[in-house]
Amino acid sequence: MSRPSRVEIVDVAPRDGLQAEPGKVSTADKIELIDRLSAAGLPAVEAGAFVSPKWVPQMADTADVLAGIQRRPGTRYPVLVPNARGLEGAITSRVEEIAIFGAASETFSQKNINCSIEESLERFCAVAEAALAAGMRVRGYISCVLGCPYEGEVPMENVVRVARELDAMSCYEISLGDTIGVGTPARARAMIDAVSEVVPVDRLALHFHDTYGQALANILACLDAGVATLDCAVAGLGGCPYAPGASGNVATEDVVYMLDGMDIETGVDMTALVDAGRFICEALGREPTSKAAQAIQANAG
Ligand code: HMG
Ligand code: MG
Repeated sequence: MSRPSRVEIVDVAPRDGLQAEPGKVSTADKIELIDRLSAAGLPAVEAGAFVSPKWVPQMADTADVLAGIQRRPGTRYPVLVPNARGLEGAITSRVEEIAIFGAASETFSQKNINCSIEESLERFCAVAEAALAAGMRVRGYISCVLGCPYEGEVPMENVVRVARELDAMSCYEISLGDTIGVGTPARARAMIDAVSEVVPVDRLALHFHDTYGQALANILACLDAGVATLDCAVAGLGGCPYAPGASGNVATEDVVYMLDGMDIETGVDMTALVDAGRFICEALGREPTSKAAQAIQANAG
C-alpha cells in the first residue's frame, strides 16, 4: 500500500476534546463549534456521547447539541454509544452513525466502561446489531493500542483480537486509539501492519493523542502503510477522563498543515479551521496547543 492522495479527517473535538474539560462549556458553544467545523469542510464531526452522565457529565447535553446543529448534507455526525440505553438516545436524536468503543487493555476497559473486554464485546455486538437494523452506520474504537495508563505495554495480539471482533460486528471502520500518546513511529507502523492482516487498511483509522509529541510522526509512518482516515481535534483539545495524564488528540490544524504541504487532499479550509479553534479556545479561556494554529495566528496579528 502506498501513501494516499486524499485523507479523511474526523474531528473529534466536540466529544473527545470536551469530555475531559473541567469547566462547563455551554450547549450553544458546542453547537457553534460543530457548525464551524462542518462549515470548514470536515467530512465527519464527532458530536457527543450517549454515555452515563454520572460518568461523564460533560456529555450530558448530547441530545440538545444534536437538536441544535445544522446538519450539512455530506457531513457525518457520529456519537459514542456504550450500551442499549445509549443507543435508544441515539435513535431518538436521529443519529445516523454511532461509535462503539472497546479497549485492548483489561484494566482500561474496567475503568472506562465498568466491564471486562469480553463483556464489552458481548454488549457491543447487541448494540451494533440493533444499530444496523435501525439503518445506522457503526464505527468501532479500540483504546490503548500502543500502551495503557494502568498496564503499560499492551500485547499486539490483544489489539488484533479486538479488531477482528469489531470487524465481525460489521463496523465499517475501526479507529485505533493511542489513548495516552505513548507510541513512536516504528511501533505505530508495526501495529498497523499487524491489524491490517485482519482488517483491510482502507477500513482503519488512526486516533492518536499527542501526549509525548509523537502523533504527527506516527501518522506519517502509518500514512506510508496506506491509512487514509485520521481522527484529530481542532486546537489539540482532548483527553480521556479515565486515562490520567493523557493530553489532547493530535491537532487538526497541525495535521491539515502537514497534509497540505504534502499535496494530500483533505477538503478542509485552514482559515475556517483556525477560526473554529480560536472560537472554542476563547470559550474555554485557553490557547490552542496546535503549533500551526499558533503560528498562523501570530502571523495574522
Ligand atoms: P455502569 O455504572 O456499569 O452502568 O456504567 P449501569 O448500567 O449500572 O448504569 C448506571 C447508571 O447510569 C444508571 O443510572 C443508568 O441508568 C445510567 P441510575 O439508575 O444510577 O440513575 N446509564 C446511562 N445514562 C445515560 N446514558 C447511558 C447510560 N447507561 C447507563 N448510555 C457505562 C457503564 C458504560 C454506562 C459507564 O461506564 C459509562 O457511561 N462510561 C462511558 C465512559 C466514557 O464516555 N469515556 C470516555 C470515552 S472513551 C475515550 O475517550 C477513548 C476514545 O477517545 C479512543 C481513545 O482515545 O483511545 C474513544
Ligand atoms: Mg480519544
